[in-house]
Amino acid sequence: AEQTFIMIKPDGVQRGLIGEVISRFEKKGFYLKAMKLQNVEKSFAEQHYADLSSKPFFGGLVEYIVSGPVVAMVWEGKSVVATGRKIIGATNPLASEPGTIRGDFAVDIGRNVIHGSDSVENARKEIALWFPEGLAEWSSSQHCWVYES
Ligand code: GTP
Ligand code: MG
Repeated sequence: AEQTFIMIKPDGVQRGLIGEVISRFEKKGFYLKAMKLQNVEKSFAEQHYADLSSKPFFGGLVEYIVSGPVVAMVWEGKSVVATGRKIIGATNPLASEPGTIRGDFAVDIGRNVIHGSDSVENARKEIALWFPEGLAEWSSSQHCWVYES
């Protein structure tokens, strides 16, 4: 099944939004496969956002990510990468639709609460980077009440 990497950023942790974020993915019908709360080293944050290293906001972005603990998670389910991005909302929270996490809980682009992988390929890379120890092995007894097959 498809998997994505989701991270609650330091502002989301500080503002008490961990449960809210988990709840939205859980209630949708996606399955939590790994989760940890941890502080991030600068070099690790730079690695995670390596694709953006040439951007003018890169330094500020890395500072933001290392400013407090983050919650790193892997979620699984049908089309979870693209659907996870929809649940999260547009990058700039002032452009995010109400009903999305960023639309409901954020204002500034540099305090946008949550990260989600933008493609299946990047999800694979990010999961390998953040969870080299591997994922939990389980399946939900409610699976057939959410998925047709
Ligand atoms: P992530 O899920 O965090 O990867 O966000 P995204 O995929 O919606 O956007 P992108 O990968 O392009 O940028 C990564 C993060 O960098 C964003 O979530 C923002 O926190 C930050 N960022 C992106 N563009 C800007 C910008 O123009 N200015 C500032 N200050 N921050 C930006
Ligand atoms: Mg991104």
